Amino acid sequence: MEAILSSTTLSLSPLPPHSLSSFSVSKLTVTRLKTSLTTSSQKGSPSSPVLPLRVSANSQAAPATSTEPTTSSSVPSQMKGWVYGEYGGVDVLKVDSSVSVPPVKDDQVLIKVVAAALNPVDFKRRLGKFKASDSPLPTVPGYDVAGVVVKVGSQVKSLKEGDQVYGNINEKALEGPKQFGSFAEYTAVEEKLLALKPKNLDFAQAAGLPLAIQTAYEGLERSGFSDGKSILVLGGAGGVGSLVIQLAKHVFGASRVAATSSTGKLELLKSLGADLAVDYTKENFEDLPEKFDVVYDTVGQGDKAVKVMKEGGSVVVLTGAVTPPGFRFVVTASGAVLEKLNPALESGKVKPVVDSKGPFPFTKVVEAFSDIETNRATGKVVIYPIP
Ligand SMILES: NC(=O)c1ccc[n+]([C@@H]2O[C@H](COP(=O)([O-])OP(=O)(O)OC[C@H]3O[C@@H](n4cnc5c(N)ncnc54)[C@H](OP(=O)(O)O)[C@@H]3O)[C@@H](O)[C@H]2O)c1
Repeated sequence: MEAILSSTTLSLSPLPPHSLSSFSVSKLTVTRLKTSLTTSSQKGSPSSPVLPLRVSANSQAAPATSTEPTTSSSVPSQMKGWVYGEYGGVDVLKVDSSVSVPPVKDDQVLIKVVAAALNPVDFKRRLGKFKASDSPLPTVPGYDVAGVVVKVGSQVKSLKEGDQVYGNINEKALEGPKQFGSFAEYTAVEEKLLALKPKNLDFAQAAGLPLAIQTAYEGLERSGFSDGKSILVLGGAGGVGSLVIQLAKHVFGASRVAATSSTGKLELLKSLGADLAVDYTKENFEDLPEKFDVVYDTVGQGDKAVKVMKEGGSVVVLTGAVTPPGFRFVVTASGAVLEKLNPALESGKVKPVVDSKGPFPFTKVVEAFSDIETNRATGKVVIYPIP
């Protein structure tokens, strides 16, 4: 298994992004969470409205780390988590040892978090950009998670204690995302948002996939992308773009994939499946001598993107202004999409790309936020281990 991991994890050297001239393959060494869960499931707590996070110091706080297996009967009432109580820069983030472990609704499972990952939505939310539809503060941030099920709600059908799962915990990214996110020891998640972790991936690799791969897949589907079509991916080295390239080429059967990045990441784009890697620091993609059936814009260049679309084609935009006929959408999380893509992941056709400045340990969540906020991360910014 480790051999597959090392050959499938693309990890860039920790040089400044614009001076990268090559990428290397390196191995993530991830210790598997030891679980020997023997107790029976407890009935999930009754649904409750938003619970205040208890952030005061408490002598009964959960231990920071434990080598003991966690079972439903030994889940503590409090945990370590990253919390912010006001919107703002990275300085609003505080680690707290007495955050309430979230209650588990009937359709949810409680996950002992092993790894988590950042998405731009995490910092945009922390900055207060989605205030109007956010859950109340204080917030434990984090959408992406990989971990082990330690408790199941009464209506949960297919997951059980001990299952190694991963997912994006917020079905609608911007509509009331959970108050108890994944940057904590435990998080409660609906069964339908989770899938079993691909067997060939470790927790850190799996944690980086859910939101980005769901977005990549949904955008390709919505654009009507299919076998034999051509695509230009704007921002091919980012969390979403690196997966759009791979899905387009290796799952949807693209006839031609072009993608943009800065100079040091061109080789990465090609290794992921791009036939043409365009250096945006040296040429304008609008000047390319070809047009594409689909332009997938992860950067916010919708106005230029429409200029390189073939007649009758589509332009899908994730951020920024939309110029018709381009369209924008907001991802819907789904465990079913992860299950559908499982064969492509387990066969190694589609590979996670983990930013080589990480994985960041739990104590370095501020540094992880700072990394993604540069807008220059390569692939996913992962947080691992989580105590
Ligand atoms: N609507 C939705 O549902 C949805 C879902 C997911 C993400 N998003 C949004 O989509 C955007 C991308 O998300 P992400 O997770 O992929 O972000 P990300 O991983 O942080 O993207 C970073 C990458 O962007 C590249 N980049 C920056 N400027 C570029 C440019 N001018 N041309 C080409 N590449 C450029 C960088 O490569 P270089 O270093 O080479 O510049 C870097 O590798 C974000 O704004 C995010 O909020 C929206």
